[in-house]
Amino acid sequence: MARHLITSAIPYINGIKHLGNLVGSQLPADLYARYQRARGNEVMFLCATDEHGTPAELAAAKAGKPVAEYCREMHAIQSEIAQGFRLSFDHFGRSSSPQNHRLTQHFAGRLADQNLIREVSEKQVYSHADKRFLPDRYIEGTCPNCGYDKARGDQCENCTKQLDPTDLIDPRSAISGSTDLEVRETKHLYLRQSDMRGKLQEWIDSKTDWPILTTSIAKKWLNDGDGLQDRGITRDLDWGIPVKKGTEDWPGMEGKVFYVWFDAPIEYIACAGEWAEANGKTDADWQRWWRTDKGADDVRYTQFMGKDNVPFHTLSFPATILGSDEPWKLVDYIKSFNYLNYDGGQFSTSQGRGVFMDQALEILPADYWRWWLLSHAPESSDAEFTWENFQSSVNKDLADVLGNFASRVTKFCRSKFGEVVPEGGTPGDRESALIASLDAGLAEYQTHMDGIDIRKSANALRGLWVMGNEYLQEAAPWATFKDDPETAAMQIRTALNLIRFYAAISGPFIPDASAQLLTAMQSDDAQWPENAATALKALPAGHAFTVPDVTFRKITDEEREGWQEKFAGTR
Ligand code: MF3
Ligand code: ZN
Repeated sequence: MARHLITSAIPYINGIKHLGNLVGSQLPADLYARYQRARGNEVMFLCATDEHGTPAELAAAKAGKPVAEYCREMHAIQSEIAQGFRLSFDHFGRSSSPQNHRLTQHFAGRLADQNLIREVSEKQVYSHADKRFLPDRYIEGTCPNCGYDKARGDQCENCTKQLDPTDLIDPRSAISGSTDLEVRETKHLYLRQSDMRGKLQEWIDSKTDWPILTTSIAKKWLNDGDGLQDRGITRDLDWGIPVKKGTEDWPGMEGKVFYVWFDAPIEYIACAGEWAEANGKTDADWQRWWRTDKGADDVRYTQFMGKDNVPFHTLSFPATILGSDEPWKLVDYIKSFNYLNYDGGQFSTSQGRGVFMDQALEILPADYWRWWLLSHAPESSDAEFTWENFQSSVNKDLADVLGNFASRVTKFCRSKFGEVVPEGGTPGDRESALIASLDAGLAEYQTHMDGIDIRKSANALRGLWVMGNEYLQEAAPWATFKDDPETAAMQIRTALNLIRFYAAISGPFIPDASAQLLTAMQSDDAQWPENAATALKALPAGHAFTVPDVTFRKITDEEREGWQEKFAGTR
């Protein structure tokens, strides 16, 4: 039995995620976790909310709530929607957990001990009205170069000159508009990432099996200079993890917090500690997933994320882990994704454009979305969601191919033989040919799932569904029945067993339909099939079943047009 540690990039707390976010990390991670469990492997699948940084503060302010309360509420909401999509996390944690506070402070202490942190004194603009520092884009003013009066602290949009916040003439806060500002010296911690270039280069070069999307981004940042500059890991904000050196105070760092991108990936580890606490487990129970000195050396660790997250996972987080010089588990495989676009444009959280996870579940059950999103995952290039494409995939793949197969077979059997697997007849050449093609198809499906080639996996699975339809079409038990009811019984027995076979292998993509079909077949045998010949004998003659309710219904043109219109604007 292999052991798989699987993490999805942890979504920001500020609001409900859209379908583009979902398909770029949580959903494919769930597919892989479900698959590994189905193959009999031990899985620890972790995700959490990313609760620190300015996005959280600003969203809370907008909602008129204290940030801690806002985060607590949004975590509960995101957690419920995740369950709605059947995301099978072993734990859905929070980057603001006590475990993450302790662990983040621990890592900072270790990095300081290894002489990988330096203190830097910088000039930052402080706003009395806002009671905070105003980093780059939180400050506006007049460009000293061209006189444009809406230049931002980092750059003038008008003449494109790069600026420092202290360059601006008549500066004002972009939050409150206040001009009661002051330039203050402030101290920050920098992680000496540049010292780790060699180690990181060596590590990335050893990952010859990674997807091109992942390694090309990693190498670009590693080699193009800027990527491995020393990085500020602290901020002058109220909300976040207080800067400490392990459990000790850090002189000069009072009132400061760690930068969100420093503590967020550490939550992958802390989340396992939260899992242990929530389930009455010990430290040893979670450490056997994360500490190579405590049993994690045989764990395979796979991360899922959108392409914008790749630099943080190939450079910054590994720099934290390697720099600590402690035996933490490093990632073995990074699966990254391009973007999913929405109907001729981009999904956008800030503009409320596209379909958001809560809205999706209001109009159709999770499996419909899971199937479309996964079978169109933006792997080799960006992909696009259109309502036409969604309608046609659902109607063809799910309703016509899989759903219709289950419905026809069970209904025909009920009318001719009753609700039991019929007896009699002997399988012949057609069945042998079916078994051979199912075995080949299953092998292909497994190869793609093992390799996390998601679109190819979906194609292979669809191919297996199609084989059943073709078999049924050619065998035509409704015609056979007239002269040769024994052979028709054998054909239907084969087809009923195919339904169970499909239930067993489709779960990673469409868990609810799989469960429904298994229940209809009155089977609790969700075992991953060894081979088709054995799998098609799972339900013996005489085994009772029921006709399932509609597994997948079709989307009408009217519905499609209605949704198209409803989701054309912004949320
Ligand atoms: N919240 C980030 C995003 O949505 C992802 C953080 S992943 C982790 O882009 F590495 F920080 F955990
Ligand atoms: Zn200018």
